[in-house]
Amino acid sequence: MSLLWDFITTLLIIWPPYVANATPVVAGKLFRRRTPIDFGRNFIDGRRIFGDGKTYEGFVTGLLAGFVIGELTYIIVAKTVNITLELPAPLTVFIMCLAALLGDLTGAFIKRRLGLPRGAPAPLLDQLDFLLAALLALWLVQPSVLRVIYVIIAVLITPPIHLATNAAAYLLGLKREPW
Ligand code: CTP
Ligand code: MG
Repeated sequence: MSLLWDFITTLLIIWPPYVANATPVVAGKLFRRRTPIDFGRNFIDGRRIFGDGKTYEGFVTGLLAGFVIGELTYIIVAKTVNITLELPAPLTVFIMCLAALLGDLTGAFIKRRLGLPRGAPAPLLDQLDFLLAALLALWLVQPSVLRVIYVIIAVLITPPIHLATNAAAYLLGLKREPW
């Protein structure tokens, strides 16, 4: 029973960064003009800084959607579940979503430095970059919410969830690669 609660609490904690990370895939389709965060520029190694897969439109929509949908979820949960559960405060949710997007950006930066083109798979880095950044932010901003068991559960369940949602996005025509 308590493991079930740990599982549910983990899902609630990582839900806003998940939304922040997933929204750019969908949002990308809505913008006719998309501006790469690196403006198409190269790093000193002659390769792109982040690549065309990281855009301002994706970043901003991801941040807003993660914050708004995450916060709405917490408000609904607080109203319907009468168990006192410490969840990230609004500012923490915002910072976690920001960290998730910066983590994704860092992952892309590392991939480009390794010579991997945009969209090439980087196992574990692709699935965990945003998550670990969001959990680090939570630990820095509101450590009382975080427990080691949540980190363990989050790190174990995120790769399969990430792969499944990306495969679904690919089948729906939202993504160019199934990973
Ligand atoms: N995306 C975006 N802006 C961001 C992050 C993501 O526009 N800041 C969109 C892009 O259309 C991207 C898609 O979401 O292609 C999926 O993101 P991701 O899988 O992280 O990017 P990849 O295309 O795989 O590129 P990379 O190799 O750099 O991870
Ligand atoms: Mg990717």
